[in-house]
Amino acid sequence: MIKDKQLVIVGAGGHGSVIADIARLNGYRSILFLDDACAERADGYSVVGKVEDAPRFMADSDFILAIGNNATRERLQTWLADQGARLTTLIHPNAVIGENVTVGTGTAIMAGAVVNPGAAIGDGVILNTCSSVDHDCRVGDFVHIAVGAHLCGTVTVGDGAFICAGATVINNISVCKGATVGAGAVVVRDITEKGTYVGVPARQLV
Ligand SMILES: CC(C)(COP(=O)(O)OP(=O)(O)OC[C@H]1O[C@@H](n2cnc3c(N)ncnc32)[C@H](O)[C@@H]1OP(=O)(O)O)[C@@H](O)C(=O)NCCC(=O)NCCS
Repeated sequence: MIKDKQLVIVGAGGHGSVIADIARLNGYRSILFLDDACAERADGYSVVGKVEDAPRFMADSDFILAIGNNATRERLQTWLADQGARLTTLIHPNAVIGENVTVGTGTAIMAGAVVNPGAAIGDGVILNTCSSVDHDCRVGDFVHIAVGAHLCGTVTVGDGAFICAGATVINNISVCKGATVGAGAVVVRDITEKGTYVGVPARQLV
């Protein structure tokens, strides 16, 4: 779908660059950034203000968050929605999205990601580069599936969980709300308690 409207990206870091690239490929012709810490970028995109300035752009812009931290992304997306912002969803044209997949508001799906049939992806989710979410998975709101992480079939990931780079969750497993699965971990048992889990098989860091 070609979108000729303006997009405001909240978060001008490296993740923001990736989001801008996907937005450009989705037809956005005007792309602006808001960020509390970064006032300029070297790549020609403009940082036009801080997050609190968002309402000034709401009449003629779509919005998306480009913040990796799940809790911060949730807080700011909720605030933007409360202010009346039109939040959009971005999917890289080289992501593969199967049949009967649902994707929530404010979610970003990066290049090379694969979402197989019947999966449900919540609001404000990041499915990062080359991650995969297999058939019938349930991915909650404000989850981050990091670069190269894989969910096998019928996995449930609770709201706000972080599945780090290269981690794998085997089929039919549940990962609870707010859990972190470390880079390279392999989850073979349900994770029912919030915490950080690393290794093969994944065990809680104490
Ligand atoms: C799991 C993780 C979040 C833990 O971070 P942390 O709480 O700051 O943990 P620390 O770095 O203090 O490490 C604590 C211990 O766990 C070990 N550890 C940390 N991450 C580990 C991992 N992924 N696998 C195995 N062991 C790990 C450390 O070696 C350390 O062990 P030690 O006490 O014997 O020295 C982090 O290490 C990680 O995996 N980050 C990946 C982030 C990511 O994927 N980013 C990509 C975004 S696209």
